[in-house]
Amino acid sequence: MNAPSISELPQRLRAALVMAGFTYDAVAEVLGPEAHAALARNETTPALRRTSGGWPLETLIRLFLLQAPVELASAQRALPGLVDRLAAEGFVEQTVGEVAARLDVRPYATDDEHLWVVSDLTPGLDGGSARIGPQHVLGISSASTSLAQLTLREPVGRALDLGTGCGVQAIHLARHSDEVVATDVNQRALRLARFNLGLNAVSTPVDVRAGSFFEPVAGEAFDLIVTNPPFVISPATGEQLVYRDSGLPGDRVVEHIVRNAPDHLADGGWCQVLANWVIPSGGAWEERLAGWVPEGCDAFVVQRELVDPAAYVELWLKDAGLHGSADYLVRYDTWLSWFEDQGIEAVGFGWINLRRSGGDARELLTWPYDVEQPIASAIRDWAVARDTVVELDSHLVIRADVVQETSGRPGESDPETVVLRQQRGLRRARQVDTVEAALAGACDGDLSVGQILEAVAQLLELDPAQTREDYLPAARSLAREGFLEG
Ligand SMILES: C[S@@+](CC[C@H](N)C(=O)[O-])C[C@H]1O[C@@H](n2cnc3c(N)ncnc32)[C@H](O)[C@@H]1O
Repeated sequence: MNAPSISELPQRLRAALVMAGFTYDAVAEVLGPEAHAALARNETTPALRRTSGGWPLETLIRLFLLQAPVELASAQRALPGLVDRLAAEGFVEQTVGEVAARLDVRPYATDDEHLWVVSDLTPGLDGGSARIGPQHVLGISSASTSLAQLTLREPVGRALDLGTGCGVQAIHLARHSDEVVATDVNQRALRLARFNLGLNAVSTPVDVRAGSFFEPVAGEAFDLIVTNPPFVISPATGEQLVYRDSGLPGDRVVEHIVRNAPDHLADGGWCQVLANWVIPSGGAWEERLAGWVPEGCDAFVVQRELVDPAAYVELWLKDAGLHGSADYLVRYDTWLSWFEDQGIEAVGFGWINLRRSGGDARELLTWPYDVEQPIASAIRDWAVARDTVVELDSHLVIRADVVQETSGRPGESDPETVVLRQQRGLRRARQVDTVEAALAGACDGDLSVGQILEAVAQLLELDPAQTREDYLPAARSLAREGFLEG
């Protein structure tokens, strides 16, 4: 039999994975919740105990997910006619009678389809060495999933995945874009991204290009740009792990993307960035970040987490497999003193959403609370709310998911505090006063804001004109935050 050509390999591997039923759900079922959770913590023993490797699905689990060598005969049954070819392409290594994985092949699921992603092997299983090479290609990380959930999924013409890595964002973008460009500086990533596009039978044209940041798309515009860039905040003086280190100091990589992305957005286009940013001493990060956003662009930035310098340095030294290395303490100390010299108090982690609207709406929000995922629709709602003009003659409706919570001392007739809380999207909460609560409660689209404020003023024996003047801004901000809709 002829060996498959390169272009055939992804299709043939796909066919084998489908035939073996190597899907996310099937793996979860075979492993069971305990072993599955242990594997998520990089521990393979419970999963090894649950699998014998006797049938194709178990063979693939042991080979690719548990990084355990499997018998050649089992590998040949699970990957019919493909073992030699996969060995030649560096996916697996054959020794006498055994096959071991050299790349990770992992099932991944969306709501409506089974996907697979090839990446470098997960380092540090079972406490083994977690040292990572500079050209390491990451698989699907929690950051990849966060960006996928943040991404607006309306149909678009052209989309850009900047820093595609294994290509996961490009695969998602291809489902709702006419055309996708995926870029990276790492040639290994570009090769795996191309493979993964084939493995997932992506039929949308995806142009995979080599180059740094916006260089490969000079002069081009997109309706949607998504990026999970190498955002780790460091002095950028040591060795670089390309999947996380940009080579630029501090948060300059994020600044560069925010300042330059709008030049590559079509009118109305969005750029969505997963990012880390510096919290300068004194804590005022909002003004600094807002200062990067070019004119003509709206920006909705949500800070989801705040990490102090020590925790940040530990996180990324451990991520590189350096915990316990001979120079761990020196590296830790050097990185920490750089934070101190730079006046960096903490690092913020979150989402940056830019919209080329021609306007200049800005919201920089600290919101570390639980949100409804996927969060993308809340980003779209934010833009719709920003476009909604609220005047006294506007007829607003309270959003269907808003509930009112009151609290106060038992026996008191009036509550001490009233909070409006959204049950969906960002799940924002806002403390309101009596007039605002009455206004929100009466917004059913029937009466205008002015008419409601007039009635509330009469009820509370307030001056109607003054009440209208005082509370129109409150109506506007209730609408901007999504409690009231136009
Ligand atoms: C954190 S990974 C993200 C991978 C993938 N997009 C995801 O969401 O999982 C960052 C990617 O950016 C790439 N990268 C690093 N420096 C870059 C640069 N200057 N221009 C474009 N891509 C870069 C890395 O090679 C890596 O693939």
